[in-house]
Amino acid sequence: AAIEKGPYQHFMQKEIFEQPTVVAQTLRSYLRPLERQVALPQIDFDISAVNRITIVACGTSYYAAMVAKYWFESFARVPVDIDFASEFRYRDPILPAGGLALFISQSGETADTLAALRHCKAAGQTIAVVVNVPTSTMAREADLLLPTHAGPEIGVASTKAFTCQLAVLAALAAHFAVKKGRMSAAEEAEIVAHLMEAPASLNLALEHDDEIKAMAPLIAPARDVLYLGRGPDFPLALEGALKLKEISYIHAEGYAAGEMKHGPIALIDEAVPVIVIAPSGPHFEKTVSNMQEVRARGGKIVLISDAEGLAEAGAGCLATIEMPRVHPLIAPLVYAVPVQLLAYHVACFKGTDVDQPRNLAKSVTVE
Ligand code: G6P
Repeated sequence: AAIEKGPYQHFMQKEIFEQPTVVAQTLRSYLRPLERQVALPQIDFDISAVNRITIVACGTSYYAAMVAKYWFESFARVPVDIDFASEFRYRDPILPAGGLALFISQSGETADTLAALRHCKAAGQTIAVVVNVPTSTMAREADLLLPTHAGPEIGVASTKAFTCQLAVLAALAAHFAVKKGRMSAAEEAEIVAHLMEAPASLNLALEHDDEIKAMAPLIAPARDVLYLGRGPDFPLALEGALKLKEISYIHAEGYAAGEMKHGPIALIDEAVPVIVIAPSGPHFEKTVSNMQEVRARGGKIVLISDAEGLAEAGAGCLATIEMPRVHPLIAPLVYAVPVQLLAYHVACFKGTDVDQPRNLAKSVTVE
């Protein structure tokens, strides 16, 4: 049957709003809620022997890989290399004997990612793929298929595939940690409980839709927008900037909040909105102090956070978006929503072709 927009104006909007459902759907095949355990498909290789993981992807899928690196390294203490697929083969990567190479792709067809997969296969690596299209070439060529259950994604700018990728990757990282003896049953149970909260938290994040829509006219006139984040939420700054570029055609850059002082701070003035992604947790204070450096230079700030006393932290900001209180593990999933909605509403305000932005393709099958 043809896929319909239903009550939505665009496929992208529909796909943003589907996230609570499709993330729940995806998690169902990776978690055993009653046992509070991670449950993966049959794996034919010995995870405890994997000492290095190579993750390769493009675009939004690459940002999912960046988040996953934090999770694999912090839970399982397995070092992770990540690469843009278009760069990977050309740096003559060192591939350890018995290594695991993981490819992340919505379509399962992106030419650069597929070429990297074949390169790794020829080099004797075990191939795992996180893909949304189970009949895709990458799915067929993998040793281990880890599907996302986002359903067909029509909007060219990826949204629901990203949050579903994160759901699978969090479960996979926890599974590695368990197999490597780095995570106790009690810790696993806790991780599973946090992941199971994600769909409800995504719903709460979506409740800010009207508020974010009201901000769109303030962002739309900007020529440049800066996004800041730290730790596992730094990739969200990159993803927020990518979404805005893709569909609103406003130049945007994502930066690690602490790195701003080494360059981008020179750009800050009243004309440059700065979107600060600052979930409560170990990085909050530092990110807020970077935000104050922006404020001192007249920058217009949108603070996205769940921190207690947000009104105080957000004094002098153009706007604050109060996120539901979530565990840092699921923050990258939940904070995807406000950055997607902001890009979406700015693009609608500008009247661009949201689902089919100029010069972009849903699946890039040339290298
Ligand atoms: C294109 C799409 C992006 C996507 C990227 C990677 O550039 O416009 O939305 O993130 O390809 O696609 P993949 O299917 O490999 O995830």
